[in-house]
Amino acid sequence: MSGHNVWTHKGTFLLAAVGSAVGLGNLWRFPYLTGENGGGAFILVYAVTIFAVGIPILIAEIMLGRASRQSPIMGMRHLTKTHNTSRAWETIGWLGAVSAFLILSFYSVIAGWAIHYTWLMLTGSLVGADAQAISDGFDALLASPGLLTLYHTLFIIASGLIVGMGIHRGIESGLRIIMPALFAILLLVLAYSVMHGDIAAAASFLFTFNLAELSLEGWLQAVGQSFFTLSLGMGAIMAYGAYMSSTASLTRTAIAVAAVDTAVAMVAGLAIFSLVFGAGLETGQGPGLMFVTLPLAFAEMPLGGLVGGVFFILVLGAAISSSISLIEPVAAFLVERFDMTRPQAVTLMVIASWALGLLTVVSFNIYAEGTIFHTLFGRSAFDFIELLTNIFMPLGGILIALFAGWALTHSEVMKEMRTNETWFSIWRFLVRFIAPAAVAFVFLRTIPQVDGYLIPAIGAVLLVGAFAAGRTFLMENSQEK
Ligand code: PFF
Repeated sequence: MSGHNVWTHKGTFLLAAVGSAVGLGNLWRFPYLTGENGGGAFILVYAVTIFAVGIPILIAEIMLGRASRQSPIMGMRHLTKTHNTSRAWETIGWLGAVSAFLILSFYSVIAGWAIHYTWLMLTGSLVGADAQAISDGFDALLASPGLLTLYHTLFIIASGLIVGMGIHRGIESGLRIIMPALFAILLLVLAYSVMHGDIAAAASFLFTFNLAELSLEGWLQAVGQSFFTLSLGMGAIMAYGAYMSSTASLTRTAIAVAAVDTAVAMVAGLAIFSLVFGAGLETGQGPGLMFVTLPLAFAEMPLGGLVGGVFFILVLGAAISSSISLIEPVAAFLVERFDMTRPQAVTLMVIASWALGLLTVVSFNIYAEGTIFHTLFGRSAFDFIELLTNIFMPLGGILIALFAGWALTHSEVMKEMRTNETWFSIWRFLVRFIAPAAVAFVFLRTIPQVDGYLIPAIGAVLLVGAFAAGRTFLMENSQEK
């Protein structure tokens, strides 16, 4: 039933896609990756990647969604039929659904940490605390399966409720409240960081492009980050694209999504580093930047508890507007394929993903090491799930780019993009060659992290993909000039 729904307003897709894109990736991951990879050099690479790889694939993914008007799996099934291509391309839909399910499971656990910190900040518990106390507090949180499960449960239920209420009453209405509030809070936090932090140091850290600091590792992280932050390759954008008004401009919308997403990451980076520098703290703290370094900065500043609390509410809002986009593609599939009601479909997805999330929860404490998981896969369950998504995301991205670039005909693409030949050619060149090559490069670099049982599995998926791409290529060339 949701297959033929369209958003109420022409601009809702933009709102929804920005909601999906802006999340922990911008507020938590982007700043810490930048901090770890030397600031400006990383940002430069990241910006180039967003343009050459991110935006073209974003356009492709929205296009597949809008052209099929169904959930990613059913939509790809439909497109393979209408385009007379191998059914193996349906892999795009399945990879998306599986990745969405996997990501939601740990995204919800990490977002749950923000609930904890919202509470600590607003109750003033951290005011005046020193570095040791704050870092011990974070360790204590991770050591408690009970607390982590509680927050994980609260977060995922809230996300499920929004999606369960439907794309109009739930997702659209929810985003209409959440998104403006997020932008208001972000500006407020920026203003606060200008007043109480060291914004000049933050700006020079972020925008001094020292190419000598560019490392291969930084490139790889930047490509991975551009996928994660734009929600690419996971079916989320395709699912939302299925509801996009036919008259909204695809190209302009995609560029706007990427621009807003990048702007939010930059502003968040400026604000966070301004506070971190202002408090004389280190930038390269990794994932703890938001949950240890930043709370410490707030602890020492005037009104820090209140502003810190509001900041973590921002984190929560951004996370929830992203997590709902992870539920939607799978829920829509269950509704279309098995005739479930939407609440049933959402419940199923949320319960399954919640249960899987428990593996992430225990990865930080009871089963932090030495389990059957470690023996079999050489890492904790959380690291394993994250690794899987880091493989599936680029894989899905390559396949989306190849399908849109090679299987869709010129006239179909023009109908969706409504642009001139020059832009069309640039886009097609990027999705046919540049984006797949760049992503494949990153993908192959991920392989060394992959050991044992995963190698044959990934090899098989790659083979199927290559076979499907080859067949489509041959068919297309025999049909169209
Ligand atoms: N883009 C989100 C972020 O930056 O936090 C994360 C995300 C949401 C990834 C939805 C993938 C997705 F399908």
